[in-house]
Amino acid sequence: MKSGYVLIAKGISKEFYHPEKILILKEISLEVKLGESVAIIGPSGSGKSTLLQILGTLESPTTGTLYFYEDQIVPKMVASIRNKHYGFVFQAGNLLEEYSLIENLLLKAKIARRPTFKGAEAFEEALSFIDQVGLTHRINFPLKYLSGGEKQRAAIARALMNNPDLILADEPTGNLDKASAEHVQEILLNCCKKLNKSLIVVTHDNNFSNLVDTKLQLESGLLK
Ligand SMILES: Nc1ncnc2c1ncn2[C@@H]1O[C@H](COP(=O)(O)OP(=O)(O)OP(=O)(O)O)[C@@H](O)[C@H]1O
Ligand SMILES: [Mg+2]
Repeated sequence: MKSGYVLIAKGISKEFYHPEKILILKEISLEVKLGESVAIIGPSGSGKSTLLQILGTLESPTTGTLYFYEDQIVPKMVASIRNKHYGFVFQAGNLLEEYSLIENLLLKAKIARRPTFKGAEAFEEALSFIDQVGLTHRINFPLKYLSGGEKQRAAIARALMNNPDLILADEPTGNLDKASAEHVQEILLNCCKKLNKSLIVVTHDNNFSNLVDTKLQLESGLLK
């Protein structure tokens, strides 16, 4: 079984240059153990989404280094890490609106070159995650016909495909009513506890950030 730190970030800084130079993140370091849940909180505009994108290898830091377990993440590892080892739940959503719910999940398996025919392991996995987020009755619906909260849950089901070690979620309960938000929290926290995955969640939701193992505040470019 894997153990240790699924992600280590050292000295992460980020500057944006347009329309003017701003330093958003200042030498941030972070360690996330396998099975650990981490919440990043902080005011709007403080750089939470930017940090999450960098930790997810989707954006480059201006300075700093990331490690996946003991290995420094270098450009040739990035595609495999994103497709097989990380699961993403984003503010803007990373789902294909014209495709059905199950197709959205199977597409992620296809990108990782897994067979997706009916009865294949990935197909069964997709059915099980759709069931866990309570969307079995919407399995063949194109995503564009799902409600905002249903899409949020669909994004979580998609993030769980391919058995990732780390889930990165940007305000996953942002559009949800209290009951649905609690359901989403429960699914994500259960992944850590029962499936031994790690979670980094950006959230404004105090209920959620009070339930995680480690709560960190991003303010003035520093994580405390
Ligand atoms: N590509 C970019 N170019 C210039 N500035 C940017 C760029 N992306 C983000 N910023 C700026 O960086 C700051 C941090 O943005 P970010 O989206 O990370 O904030 P956030 O903490 O996630 O906010 P929110 O809680 O509102 O989602 C903002 O002031 C934003 O305008
Ligand atoms: Mg944000």
